Amino acid sequence: EKQGYQHFMLKEIHEQSESLKRLLEDNLNGGQIDLTASGLAEDWLDNYDKIHIVACGTAYHSGALAKYLLEDKLRIPVEVEVASEYRYRNPIVDAGTLMIVVSQSGETADTLAALRLAKEKGASVLALTNSRDSSIARESDMVIYLKAGPEIAVASTKAYTNMVAAFYLLLVDGMRQRDNISDQITAEYTSDLIKLPEMIRKLSEQSKEQIQAIADNYADKENIFFIGRNTDYTLALEGALKLKEISYIHAEAYPAGELKHGTLALIEEGVPVVALGSRADIFSKLFSNLKEVKARGAETLLITEENQKFEIESVDHLIELPILNKDFAGLLAIIPLQLLAYYTALNCGEDIDQPRNLAKSVTVE
Ligand code: F6R
Repeated sequence: EKQGYQHFMLKEIHEQSESLKRLLEDNLNGGQIDLTASGLAEDWLDNYDKIHIVACGTAYHSGALAKYLLEDKLRIPVEVEVASEYRYRNPIVDAGTLMIVVSQSGETADTLAALRLAKEKGASVLALTNSRDSSIARESDMVIYLKAGPEIAVASTKAYTNMVAAFYLLLVDGMRQRDNISDQITAEYTSDLIKLPEMIRKLSEQSKEQIQAIADNYADKENIFFIGRNTDYTLALEGALKLKEISYIHAEAYPAGELKHGTLALIEEGVPVVALGSRADIFSKLFSNLKEVKARGAETLLITEENQKFEIESVDHLIELPILNKDFAGLLAIIPLQLLAYYTALNCGEDIDQPRNLAKSVTVE
């Protein structure tokens, strides 16, 4: 069942190109995005004045990414929150709210409770879930199935990628509905989306040896930091979570601009800092933060697109991503981040598919 892979996690990392393709094909009709099978109206954006995205863990990170893009392009207010907070704080929800819950298992107790709360207050609920028969799928008004296929490893990989891709589909479908966004831009976004699976496939094959070499050096570190701005910050959150849950090394993600408000105090000789710089529009800002940590002795790993210009002396390790529009390029970084977590944990000798204290489906709060 592991098909020659040492762990389910590695198998699932390598399945991502296929599972992503499946989700995209399922929601494309003659080259156009069509989400009506989910129950969404063709002009759904007109029906809502705000969006709430609620989830836990990795699923929450996909929502954090979506907030940046949906607000930027669609100009609709978006809140994103972890379900365990949302459900106990009396959020402002009404019939104009589109509630998007995200859950691989479809059974996460806090997410289900948040869904019920929002529904009671009149929201329309759209679920992004990998499980057709789940409580979350059943109780939602509309459902986009993630089609990632069964995920066995506790650490989520291919479901995350499809969660982000489902938000990309919503984004582009929303852009189509906005009069100020031309059909040509929407068509370009659609064709960029279709390029993602092949780019992911190549990256999973190409980056392995380089990442193994970096991971050899990470196994005996105490702290590892991940920095990024905008959507890259949310990839940093996911990269840090993946690393700590399977390697048990302390990892933290920061918005790169926040470093000088405290965290820089923790950067000393040899501390690894992973800088995510997929967004060409704000790369120079990210790079100046990378220089600051390098000046304090950090061992830096930069993940950025392949034509990016920068001063190489500040970069100890470099992973290059293929060039893609800035709103989608960030997702490509998930491949090196997942592999980094995997190979670091392998070096640490941990039980990768079944990390201590964690369950695949969290059905109690
Ligand atoms: C991390 C991980 C967890 C889950 C979280 C939500 O790798 O797997 O953080 O993402 O427990 O689970 P679902 O998506 O099933 O609601």
